[in-house]
Amino acid sequence: MASSNFLTSSVGKKVVMGATGFFLISFLIIHVSINSLIFLDILDSNENGAAFNTGAYFMSHNWVVRVLEVGLFLGLLAHAVQGVKLTIENRSKRPVKYAVYDGNANSKWYSRSMGLLGSLILMFLVVHLANFWYPTKVALFEGHEHDTFQNIVSVFKNPILVVIYLVGVVSLCFHLMHGFQSAFRTFGLVHKKYTPMIISIGVGFSIVVCTLFALMPILVFAGLIS
Ligand code: HEM
Repeated sequence: MASSNFLTSSVGKKVVMGATGFFLISFLIIHVSINSLIFLDILDSNENGAAFNTGAYFMSHNWVVRVLEVGLFLGLLAHAVQGVKLTIENRSKRPVKYAVYDGNANSKWYSRSMGLLGSLILMFLVVHLANFWYPTKVALFEGHEHDTFQNIVSVFKNPILVVIYLVGVVSLCFHLMHGFQSAFRTFGLVHKKYTPMIISIGVGFSIVVCTLFALMPILVFAGLIS
């Protein structure tokens, strides 16, 4: 099969989803780890986001990270485009709904709602990049310091933005719960003994990452990080 045919085949699309999914999961691990430095502010009120800002500064100024950033946006785009195509393809393959269909007996609701969850995450990301990524880049371009910690504190004073972030993070949690084990399956890593373990690790990973992300807007809004 020519490579262009492979990428447009159903299997090819799933491989793109799995590969970009693994890449995005690695990004989330780095993102949540650096962001978690913000919690040090609760332990030491004189901290004023110093550790967090050091991490954010490294991420926005290191040239290796900035090259990876291009890969991140291309990966995100490929993941979203192939996801939309797969969702449309899967729908058109089953134009008539089953008369009696107990979805839960075969799969979880979130496994059947990956397109919807992905769309909610994409909407969240537009708001998110406008809140944080854009001001960082403007400061970089204009050559002045940007206090990312204060940026976070001012964004999460707004209850509407807090709700948008929580909807985004909950959507991410369910999207990852299915996506994590699905990526392993796509690459043929299916095993009677190991697959249940991979599913449990995926669920645990999704809950830990998303709880840490969710705590950021909640604790800032509650005034515990300021
Ligand atoms: C809810 C808590 C979150 C906070 C406080 C937060 C904070 C930030 C900050 C401050 C930046 C800007 C970094 C910089 O350029 O200096 C950023 C970038 C970014 N965030 Fe988040 N984030 C959160 C959750 C998420 C989630 C859940 C996702 C993914 C679904 C995500 C995806 C991204 C992406 C793609 C970028 C751009 C990365 C880059 O190229 O620099 N973030 N975030």
